Amino acid sequence: MTALTLSTSSPAAVRADAVVVGVTKGAKGPAVAPGAEAVDQAFGGKLAAVLDTLGATGSEGEVTKLPAASGLKAPVVLAVGLGDAPAKGERYGAEALRRAAGVAARALSGSKKGAFALPVQDADGAAAVAEGALLGAYTFKVAGAGKNGRRGKAAADGKAASAPLAEVTVLGGKPRDKAFKAAADRATALAAEVNRARDLVNTPSNALNPASFAAAVRQAADEHGLAVEVLDEKALAKGGYGGILGVGQGSDAPPRLVRLGYTHPAATATLALVGKGITYDSGGISLKPPGHNETMKCDMSGAAAVFAAVVAVAKLGLPVNVTGWLALAENMPSGSATRPGDVLTMYSGKTVEVLNTDAEGRLVLADTLTRASEEKPDAIVDVATLTGAMVLALGNRTFGIMANDEAFRTALHEAAAEAGEQAWPMPLPAELRKSIDSPIADLANMGERMGGGLVAGIFLKEFVGEGLTWGHLDIAGPAFNESGPFGYTPKGGTGAAVRTLVRLAERAAAGGL
Ligand code: BES
Ligand code: MN
Ligand code: ZN
Repeated sequence: MTALTLSTSSPAAVRADAVVVGVTKGAKGPAVAPGAEAVDQAFGGKLAAVLDTLGATGSEGEVTKLPAASGLKAPVVLAVGLGDAPAKGERYGAEALRRAAGVAARALSGSKKGAFALPVQDADGAAAVAEGALLGAYTFKVAGAGKNGRRGKAAADGKAASAPLAEVTVLGGKPRDKAFKAAADRATALAAEVNRARDLVNTPSNALNPASFAAAVRQAADEHGLAVEVLDEKALAKGGYGGILGVGQGSDAPPRLVRLGYTHPAATATLALVGKGITYDSGGISLKPPGHNETMKCDMSGAAAVFAAVVAVAKLGLPVNVTGWLALAENMPSGSATRPGDVLTMYSGKTVEVLNTDAEGRLVLADTLTRASEEKPDAIVDVATLTGAMVLALGNRTFGIMANDEAFRTALHEAAAEAGEQAWPMPLPAELRKSIDSPIADLANMGERMGGGLVAGIFLKEFVGEGLTWGHLDIAGPAFNESGPFGYTPKGGTGAAVRTLVRLAERAAAGGL
């Protein structure tokens, strides 16, 4: 992974392959953002004019590469758009800094070192630049796919997966200052774990099944001193996990339930995180039509986010207990698969009529929510690529938040906003509950089509232990980016919800659950 350093060097004196400067949209064309004054001086104070001539405007996402003027140690200046400058006296927003740093890091993929001279006004600003750069630098290559990285040279196009930018130096960041050091450590841990989730999501389903996912969790647990328990198909059968088994029984790769535990001696709260981990969702016997299954390796994004968030919390040593629960199964059609019309007896003892085997996420989550509830955590949050309906409602970049407690739903929304993730609160309208009544079981796994994302939430709510606080994040939209990269978000797996979960754990550690 990309290395991070903080430096108080002048952007003119720093040795790097490129120095990154910020450009804002001024009233009279582009303006050079604070932090890059020395670079501007090397251009005789005319950098904004040069950029204007080159057609730069300072809008978000814009990159302009130009040869350095004499007096600069770096051979290249990379000017990146920040959008509108903040109002006088206001600071640059964290998300604008993250995105600009991400765009620049992506543009520098294949290079050794980028020096970021963006408007860093305090430790939070340094954290944002570091986080955006480390997230934007991410690249994914299938293991064993051969070496096509072109180290030391910027890629001419986005097709070949070039090596990620090897080193990020955040200028204006005081390496010996406690707050700056903490900010850098947090950014490093957070980015490494978001990138872990992205790697898992991007791994094709023929290379990641429930057993190998569980093995990856075991290995990380050993590395970071976490408790880990894995229930295999035999243990699941013995425990009566009818939902997880019913979904997994059509696959040659049997299901797993993983419990990953982080505890801290000074913790006063316990958070349970539950992740949907369908390593491939074909739809099962209710097979998805062509056009809907090509990206379904991403259906374990919730479990990947939970896994990554627990490891991040451990790396940060937060004074809070966090238990991660990963519901891992592959949803396949076969002679042993659950049929539409079958009735499953769930871990809770409730029966569910499976009307559509493609509504499998709620089945594996139901068992896992019930199991997680047994430990009576202070709050439970599940994360899932659960419904296409949520994508229709909120689009590709915003996840939906549902909860059985309004204050907790607000807390989740705040955590997302503080983390820099787009999310929106959704209701759980009581009148939709009757649509999942079944004539032959306690519940059906499918109901009213309208508001399908809310119906799924209402189904999950039935499996949360009495009196417990629960929230549900439907990340079906933002988990996987099918279009081009933007900001610090790559094409493919995005690591959605990892930063929100870590932020929630930080709030819990500070007594703010
Ligand atoms: N994994 C899908 C949801 C999904 C859709 C994730 C698009 C990512 C992108 C889920 O298992 C599913 O198939 N849901 C069905 C539920 C329906 C059958 C009630 C859906 O949304 O169509
Ligand atoms: Mn499905
Ligand atoms: Zn699914």
